[in-house]
Order: sequence, then structure tokens, then C-alpha cells
Amino acid sequence: MNVRKGTSMKTKKWTVDNSWDNSKLYPQLEEAAYLIQQGEAIAFPTETVYGLGADATNNTAVEKIFLAKGRPSDNPLIVHIANVSMLDDIVTDIPMYAKELMNQFWPGPITFVLPRTDKVCERVSAGLQTVGVRIPNHPVALALIEQANVPVAAPSANTSGRPSPTEATHVFEDLSGRIAGIVDGGGCNVGVESTVVDCTGKVPMILRPGGISKEELEEVVGKVEIDSALIHESEAPKSPGMKYKHYAPKGNMVLVDGSISYIQKLIDEAKKEGKKVGVLATDESKDLYDCDVIISAGSRMKLETISQGIYKVLRDFDEQEVEMIFSETFPQAGIGLAIMNRLRKAANHQILFESE
Ligand code: TXA
Ligand code: MG
Repeated sequence: MNVRKGTSMKTKKWTVDNSWDNSKLYPQLEEAAYLIQQGEAIAFPTETVYGLGADATNNTAVEKIFLAKGRPSDNPLIVHIANVSMLDDIVTDIPMYAKELMNQFWPGPITFVLPRTDKVCERVSAGLQTVGVRIPNHPVALALIEQANVPVAAPSANTSGRPSPTEATHVFEDLSGRIAGIVDGGGCNVGVESTVVDCTGKVPMILRPGGISKEELEEVVGKVEIDSALIHESEAPKSPGMKYKHYAPKGNMVLVDGSISYIQKLIDEAKKEGKKVGVLATDESKDLYDCDVIISAGSRMKLETISQGIYKVLRDFDEQEVEMIFSETFPQAGIGLAIMNRLRKAANHQILFESE
């Protein structure tokens, strides 16, 4: 259990239109960039989820992130940079396959774990000799990092354990009064976090599935491994953050691998116990349930829309004070691997299979 300490402060807000104009700096970001330089923690949009950013070279600044989120101190942060010219300051020994993947997918939802330089402060990498680095594909994030002119350490801008924020209002819910400011740049397109790839071995290894799929990586570099703890849940994961219960709504959530009528039976049983029951459905199934709260995550035909909205759906169940949530499951190909990874964690690995 993390006790969140820290005084209440006024959280500033800046709203930025995210239409891309490469030739200009954003005047609205001047104050946010200045506050980052001054060692404050500022939330900002990326294409995956909102991040809570601070100067990655300043231990005191980075400490504010851990305090505001109530984040366990052994969980390292990702360093965000605006262009590859900032890379040599942060990491060393970049293998050829990592360069190829960077060329192909940056800016984008992928983080590379590599040996770190001394410029990255210790608090960022939580005692490890490596650091995760990423160039986000979001004009506001890129402009903010460029204007602050420092590498920006940023985890997702949620309270530790809650669903990640994909809108500025989610950040407000969790962190208002605990951080210096929030840049509101609208909704996040990808909706799940970046793919974390360990590049310290001969072959890239996925530590956290995310916005770039295993299949997409394989198209560029051939063989890609996946941390076996992501498949066998009894093993300890190689990425410190993957061992925590995460992304969880307040209600008790169970994944159900089964038919609509089987899920309906479970709903009816829970209702008999007097619980407020919700079902995480899809566009294809939402009209077929009888349940207190029915929320569609999107169409099964387009897993990208499911990933985009999945964290908001989890927050919406909280808002409606649902006590018991049954969730449909999704195929694990492409972005489906990341969606199911997040749902399994949100459900604390509770999964029911319909017996044949
Ligand atoms: O899309 C994203 O990656 C978002 C946005 C804000 O960029 N950030 C994000 O950060 O998801 P966070 O802190 O919520 O998750 C970072 C994950 C954790 O699972 C952490 O353990 C892992 O990356 N990680 C960071 N540095 C690592 C390292 N050196 N070795 C292994 N895992 C690392
Ligand atoms: Mg996170």
C-alpha cells in the first residue's frame, strides 16, 4: 500500500490545439516548459497516454513524480526525447537491430531499454544500469520537450494502480493539487502505453506489449522474443513495473472467455447477490445483455478503437460505482496482445472459461 504524501498545490492548466505546425514553437507551452526546467512535474499528452514529466537529469524533480503518483520507488521511468540527436546523451551501446527499429517506429509508441549514461539521474532508472527511452509521436509532447530542452522522464500521469489517463480530465481526477500543471492536448490516439523492448541482448525482447505489435517488430528485424513472464504468470517479469497490480478499476473485475449467454448467467448470479453489475461489451454484443451498466469498448472489427478507449471504459465503471464487472476477452494478435495484457492486470488475473 502506498501512502501518498505531499502538500496540496494549485495545478495550472494550459490548453493546446494539437494541430501540427513544425515551424513554430507553441507560446502556450512556454510556462510549462519553464516549470520543467525549474524542477517541477508537469502532465502532458502523448499519442499513447498522458505522461507526468520532469527533468530526467534532476533527482529532486524526478522524486516529485514518485510522490505525486504514489509510485513504488523500484519502478523505473521512461525518458522522453524530441529527436535522435538527444539519444547519445541518454544511452550507449545501441545494437544495429535497435537502430533499425528506431528508424522504422520513431516517433511512435515504442520504448527501447538500453545501457544508460551518467546524465540520467539515478532516481529515473531505480538503481538499474539501463534506461528506457522513447520519442513520442505527438506534436505537443515533442514541442514541450524541445522547449524545455532537457530529456523528460515521464510515467503515465495516473495515481499508481489506477487506469492510465487518456484525457486531461483523467489526470485532473488523479493528480489535481499534487502537481504544478497539466497541458491539455485532447484525447490520446493509441490509448495503451508504448511497447517496451529490452535491447541489451542479441535479440530484442518485449517486456511490455503496447502500441507497436510483435508482428510489426518482426517484419523489421525478424526474430523477437517476449518476456516469458508475460505468458507464464508464475514467473517474475523482467520489467519491474509489470509485477504490480495495475490499471485497475475500483470494482471487482473478472474476464470471461465464453459466450454471451454464459456471461449473462454470471451477471444474473451477481445481481441476485445485490451487487451493482457491469459488463464490458463490444458494439457487436452490447444490445444483447441485460445488466445494470453496459459499456461498449468499441467494435471487435477494429481492435485499434478498443485500445483507444479501454482505459476510459474502466474509469467509467468507477464513475458509475459498479461493484462487479464482467469483461469480454479479445484475440491476442496485433494490438490485442496489449489490450488483453492490460485487462488481465485490471482483473488481477481473474479469468473464467466457459466449460464445453
Ligand atoms: O506510452 C508510454 O510508455 C507512457 C507515455 C507517458 O510515454 N509511459 C509509461 O510509463 O507507460 P510507465 O512508467 O507507466 O511505464 C513504464 C514501464 C514500466 O513497466 C517500467 O517498469 C518499464 O517501463 N521500464 C522503464 N525503464 C525500464 C528499464 N530500464 N528496464 C526494464 N523496464 C523498464
Ligand atoms: Mg503506468
